[in-house]
Amino acid sequence: MEQGGGKVCVTGAGGFVASWLVKLLLSKGYVVHGTVRNPDDEKNNHLKSLEKAQENLQLFKADLLDYDSLYAAIEGCNGVFHVASPVPPSNVANPEARFSSATELLEPAVRGTLNVLKVCSETGVERVVVVSSTGAVLLNPNWPPNKPMDEDCWTDIDYCRESKVWYNNWYCISKTTAEREALKYAENSGLDVVTVCPSYVFGPLLQSTMNTSSRLLIELIKGRSETVANRVWSIVDVRDVAQALLLVYEKKEASGRYICAPHSVQVHSLVEKLKRKYPDYNYPKNYIEVDPEAKPSSEKLKRLGWECRSLEETIADSVEYYQEAGLNKVLKRRETRIKVEMKMETLLSKDLIYLCAIISRQWTDYLIVLYGFSPLTPSIGVHLMISRNSSWSKQMSPVKSNGWMKNILRCLGKI
Ligand SMILES: NC(=O)c1ccc[n+]([C@@H]2O[C@H](COP(=O)([O-])OP(=O)(O)OC[C@H]3O[C@@H](n4cnc5c(N)ncnc54)[C@H](OP(=O)(O)O)[C@@H]3O)[C@@H](O)[C@H]2O)c1
Repeated sequence: MEQGGGKVCVTGAGGFVASWLVKLLLSKGYVVHGTVRNPDDEKNNHLKSLEKAQENLQLFKADLLDYDSLYAAIEGCNGVFHVASPVPPSNVANPEARFSSATELLEPAVRGTLNVLKVCSETGVERVVVVSSTGAVLLNPNWPPNKPMDEDCWTDIDYCRESKVWYNNWYCISKTTAEREALKYAENSGLDVVTVCPSYVFGPLLQSTMNTSSRLLIELIKGRSETVANRVWSIVDVRDVAQALLLVYEKKEASGRYICAPHSVQVHSLVEKLKRKYPDYNYPKNYIEVDPEAKPSSEKLKRLGWECRSLEETIADSVEYYQEAGLNKVLKRRETRIKVEMKMETLLSKDLIYLCAIISRQWTDYLIVLYGFSPLTPSIGVHLMISRNSSWSKQMSPVKSNGWMKNILRCLGKI
């Protein structure tokens, strides 16, 4: 593969991981075609001010579901880094339900990946690096808990559908299906496809908007929940993910999947590490113990020559970045929780599904998190958390009665 000086395309260039990759590629002398959904959106301005961006970065307006827009961005490139995929801030409603959000999650993830790969075949791209996730690895109840999970381990989609173990099973289904389809496509077509599965990605942000994984760490520090499950969190630094993506692109011998998840730590000990260095935050107080969990192994990637930062460095750089950027304060000031309560008999579960679908369809950019609902309990609590624009939230007070959904939607319309 090219070692600098080639032309490559990065999909979803303005996102958390992709921004660091674009920065790295530019620094190595690559000419980069970055796809974004809206090149004029100020949230992509950080890309334009990266070193060498003026000469070597060209932004293309492209949606994963729009084949022609992808074609325009990829044509003429030697390599493609397919990074774009929806990363919802919380669990989404069943995309296979009547009010489907398949078009927002599964479609861009799966059909979007296949669109990228087909364009790559058609335009003669030499290698495609697809960003998958450990969400496509870890949810496998049949893997022995003491055996490190390697690249042979795949998330069991049926288990995902049935279990409520993870907060974001549909996201895991989207990543698993997309990665499987990508590797199947490679086998059938002969296209050179390598996949990389990062775990939770933390580290400093280049972009001005908040992404889902960074938000997760901020919420842990700020004690959004007093009680958390003492699960294993596998963590990798965003700068090391960018290095891993470049490595598997440049190393000829790279093939198949690569897990990129070097540090596995239980939440409790992660919090203890954080507390020692940053004692003043409002950390969780109680931990629910869970069954032993297998940890992912990054040995294959390390054998290829990948090196990474220590966990301590990653969390220190993350927290210090959040502090410098005032992100903790910003979140605190702008977050609003709205509790909506109502009696079961006034609510049909399809209403909830509809609300989720609408939120995931239109408002993920606004970091709206919906949680705490259950059609099975007599009283339903729906919490909406909105950052980015706080002004409208003042207009909404807690609502009781079955007019609640209209009220929420009316308020959302005011963002
Ligand atoms: N962060 C993590 O912890 C983590 C862990 C494992 C894997 N990953 C994977 O890493 C990749 C990047 O994630 P991230 O954390 O950097 O999230 P991010 O900042 O939210 O980036 C996601 C990107 O995907 C783009 N996108 C979503 N739907 C699209 C569509 N229909 N058409 C075109 N672009 C679309 C978004 O574009 P807009 O800006 O226009 O919305 C955004 O640039 C994803 O594939 C994710 O699954 C992330």
